[in-house]
Amino acid sequence: MKRWCGGNTGHVAKSDRSGLCRGRLMMLMWIILSSSLSLMVDGQMKISPEMVQQWAVTFGKEIAAMSARYSGAKLLQKKYKDVEGMVKIEELKGEELVKKFAEEMEEMLGRKMKSVKRLAEAAEDADLYHDYNDTLEFDYFNSLLINTVDEGGNQVPLGGEFPLEENEHFNNLPVNTLLSNIQVPTNVYNRDPDILNGAFMSEALNEVFIENFQKDPTLTWQYFGSSTGFFRLYPGIQWTPDEHGVVTFDCRNRNW
Ligand SMILES: *[C@@H]1O[C@H](CO)[C@@H](O)[C@H](O)[C@H]1NC(C)=O
Repeated sequence: MKRWCGGNTGHVAKSDRSGLCRGRLMMLMWIILSSSLSLMVDGQMKISPEMVQQWAVTFGKEIAAMSARYSGAKLLQKKYKDVEGMVKIEELKGEELVKKFAEEMEEMLGRKMKSVKRLAEAAEDADLYHDYNDTLEFDYFNSLLINTVDEGGNQVPLGGEFPLEENEHFNNLPVNTLLSNIQVPTNVYNRDPDILNGAFMSEALNEVFIENFQKDPTLTWQYFGSSTGFFRLYPGIQWTPDEHGVVTFDCRNRNW
């Protein structure tokens, strides 16, 4: 039986099997379903009615924008004028269409929820079976440092060779769909024991990210954000700092 208890910062902290509270690894996790629809799930996967309401609003706006963009309604009206004499109008049963649409929508959202659930469970398990190690040494793929070499031509620490390939499904960005990688804001030490332990234990999510993507190809970015400040992102990408060489993005400050 897994139990949960409040951490001293007011987040939800996770306890281990014996019921002991461990405030150290407080996890937030989420998964991005499309560019603007996001789910955030706390440890117990309890989702408030307000949150659902908010999704509905966001989702509604998105669909309106999408249908305007992709249905080509304007173009269709113009084209129709050209062929008016040749076409015959067939009436469609609106109610049935709506029903079918609703079913498809439900199925799609169901798939997304399953993806979130799989991720949440994998993260919980990984955390549960990971013993915190203060002196852990672990080289993770840092999205800022990958494919970077020093003056001597050697890969920099926390970098390494990380193949990237442009992918249509991800806004034509060069990505690695076989691996996630980790972003850490500049003001967080990227070898802090909290970061190293979190990066190490969340390696287990790689296979879940890939499995989710295979099961639901409409899925786009999947993220795991930790309250320690690291952000695991699938597919892996190269992160570009701002013009001052600084990465300000901090997953903890996002209004997910
Ligand atoms: C902690 O990590 C260090 C470095 O990776 C390792 O040598 C040590 O055995 C680990 N300690 C435990 C208790 O696993």
